[in-house]
Amino acid sequence: MPAFTAQAPAKVILFGEHAVVYGRPAIAVPVISLRARAIVRAEPRAPHGQVRLLAPAVELDALLDELAEDHPLRRVVELTAEELGAAYLPACQISIQSEIPPASGLGSGAAVSVAIIRAVAAYLGKSLSDETVSKIAYEVEKIYHGTPSGVDNTVIALQKAVFFVRGQPIQPLRVGRPFTLVIADSGIPSPTAATVADVRVAWQQDPARFEALFDQIGAIVLQARALIEKGQPDQLAELMNRNQSLLQELGVSSPVLEHLIDAARHAGALGAKLSGGGRGGNLIALVNSSDASIVAQALKEASARGVIVTTVG
Ligand code: PMV
Repeated sequence: MPAFTAQAPAKVILFGEHAVVYGRPAIAVPVISLRARAIVRAEPRAPHGQVRLLAPAVELDALLDELAEDHPLRRVVELTAEELGAAYLPACQISIQSEIPPASGLGSGAAVSVAIIRAVAAYLGKSLSDETVSKIAYEVEKIYHGTPSGVDNTVIALQKAVFFVRGQPIQPLRVGRPFTLVIADSGIPSPTAATVADVRVAWQQDPARFEALFDQIGAIVLQARALIEKGQPDQLAELMNRNQSLLQELGVSSPVLEHLIDAARHAGALGAKLSGGGRGGNLIALVNSSDASIVAQALKEASARGVIVTTVG
């Protein structure tokens, strides 16, 4: 049987997480060394319209109709078929594999959605624009995250660096000179919905203070965009450190993240910050490429669970 396969990368947020939920800009980049993959195989002998979903990593083996109506995997398949005007999918099996650790700020949910959307579209003999793929994935992000800004689905659908403002058209970001990041997993799962909800409560209690923090983060993002475009990535380091201090003030850092960030800086990282929802999940460190392995080793010794070196641009 022919198989229709699609892949989608992980992502990290370079600048602007949390403030982006409140209308400030953010910068995010794909991490192509980690991928989610969806494979659709026709099952002509299965009953008409029967769709079976297999995701061994989460021990899922179920028929689409057996899943709750708001199950993210069911929604993504149904929304894609709907978008393409297909009343049903010809009987098939959809297998999902992902190398992206969940609940760690790397966009695993959005990557799985994007891979499924593209594989299902290919199975139906169609293709969808990046904008439409992102729009469908955003609907599913709402199930995972409650009130997502849309940055994850955007950067993952586009597979390129983006300057993102909630509700605005996709703006790819030109990377003037490549730069190297070390990404380290604190090993602490931290669902984004929880940190986003906590920031919302704190913002409601002291809106003036939180709006001022969001403004400062927004200003950092604008400076970072200019440096990335001009090809002056070394100067991003100071901005990363300042963004991290502001994230601490928002209440989304944690002792473990700070311990790892200190370890990266001591080992020669130019700058470092948490990435994504915070509390746990991942941090990113900007490094000279020749120092990447030293910083990676220091992070492992400081008890990071997984460490990846990636080049942006
Ligand atoms: O990287 P993640 O999936 O943890 O995304 C978090 C980004 C936030 O700004 C905290 C939330 C959002 O929807 O943008």
